[in-house]
Amino acid sequence: MSDSAGGVRGRDFTGYRIAGAIAALIFLFLLAWQVVLLFAADSTVRPEVAIRAAGDSPGMHSGTIAAETLAARTRLLDERYRTGPSPEAEVPALAEGRANLDSESMTDGSAYTRAWSVPTEDEAAMMHQPDRIEGISSLPYSNAALFERPFGRDWRIGMSDIITHMGALAILGMAFLLSAVLALRGRVPIRQGKSGRRVHRFGFVERGTHWMTALSFLGLSFTGIAIAYGETLFVPLGERAMGTLGWWSTWGHVLFAPTFFLGLIVMAVMWTAKNLPSKLDIQWIAKGGGFFSDSGDHPPARKFNAGQKMVFWSAILGGLIMVATGVTLMFPYYWLDLAGMSWAMLIHAAIAVLLIAVFLAHIYIGSVGMHGAIDAMWSGKVDRNWAEEHHSLWLREVDPKKERTP
Ligand code: HEM
Repeated sequence: MSDSAGGVRGRDFTGYRIAGAIAALIFLFLLAWQVVLLFAADSTVRPEVAIRAAGDSPGMHSGTIAAETLAARTRLLDERYRTGPSPEAEVPALAEGRANLDSESMTDGSAYTRAWSVPTEDEAAMMHQPDRIEGISSLPYSNAALFERPFGRDWRIGMSDIITHMGALAILGMAFLLSAVLALRGRVPIRQGKSGRRVHRFGFVERGTHWMTALSFLGLSFTGIAIAYGETLFVPLGERAMGTLGWWSTWGHVLFAPTFFLGLIVMAVMWTAKNLPSKLDIQWIAKGGGFFSDSGDHPPARKFNAGQKMVFWSAILGGLIMVATGVTLMFPYYWLDLAGMSWAMLIHAAIAVLLIAVFLAHIYIGSVGMHGAIDAMWSGKVDRNWAEEHHSLWLREVDPKKERTP
């Protein structure tokens, strides 16, 4: 059906609405699953490293030994008061530190404790932070006097519970919302239909920069989600899949960062002046961009409307925070201490999930959500009627012929 034949009525977007309804149902199901997980038992951090401890006992598998060793070491840390360095004290059989389990001299147990009690220089430096609750201890373990590092617990809850669950809820919630909008409201049409006359909107450098940044962002998002949610997403596919995908994700995550950063800088140089707030933005926000009904005028806008300005500033400010915290995580302890590193990780994860949710909305409105929008970033030219409806003041600046083409 021709675009220009009858404008809004000339386009049949029923297929989009059906697809939106199906997607909404899928995301609703995933959201419900998330809510169930949210109220399921708290995540606990358990040592599950599958190391092979030397010196298997007869009848025991190395995996069992490794697990017992780790469990014993955890118990040693938990119950330090019971398992001090006294030779008479109860020492879990496999509580070895950097000791060699094969060594004859280690059989009485106290040597294990000694080995375990001496941290490396790096460990000692990392653990020696001021924001801790410390007492006095005569035990030879350098952290024996450390009762609590309260922020460590908050950090763990923040990372493994709050951000993980809230992030999943934010991303799935946004995906559900957008699908529901597509199903109920349908695609935003060009009310007058396409005129067939186009105006130039974005040049080659602008489009090239946009797509480089967008692809880098998508790469960072997918690999980041794989890192954060890999256990839920990949483990069901098998441990080998988890290993392979985890490896690719970890390296991929680092590789996409430079092009993302470069894109942000170029976009900031090209578009900051056009994204400064103005009075028009208030009017645009008050009218919801004119998106929610097919009658009534769209509020006037220059090159970028208030919604696009929010997208722009989320990309620039959010992106720069991501790059700063990300580079910090790539160089641990170079310029931040333990508390600083913990904050860097929390901020990186929290802003990441928010940005993914914001950009889902951007991707939606720039593609399926609005008829004619993608042309701006694809060919660089938009239909005059689209421009008149969404960026009327900009159209007058670039193409003073004011009349709308039927
Ligand atoms: C991959 C899917 C994406 C699509 C289909 C898409 C589409 C578009 C379109 C059509 C425009 C032009 C809108 C106009 O004519 O005014 C645009 C602009 C823009 N895009 Fe994207 N985009 C995508 C991803 C991204 C990502 C991931 C980022 C940033 C990390 C981004 C940042 C921007 C910015 C800052 C603008 C200018 C401001 C605005 O129009 O909102 N885009 N995008």
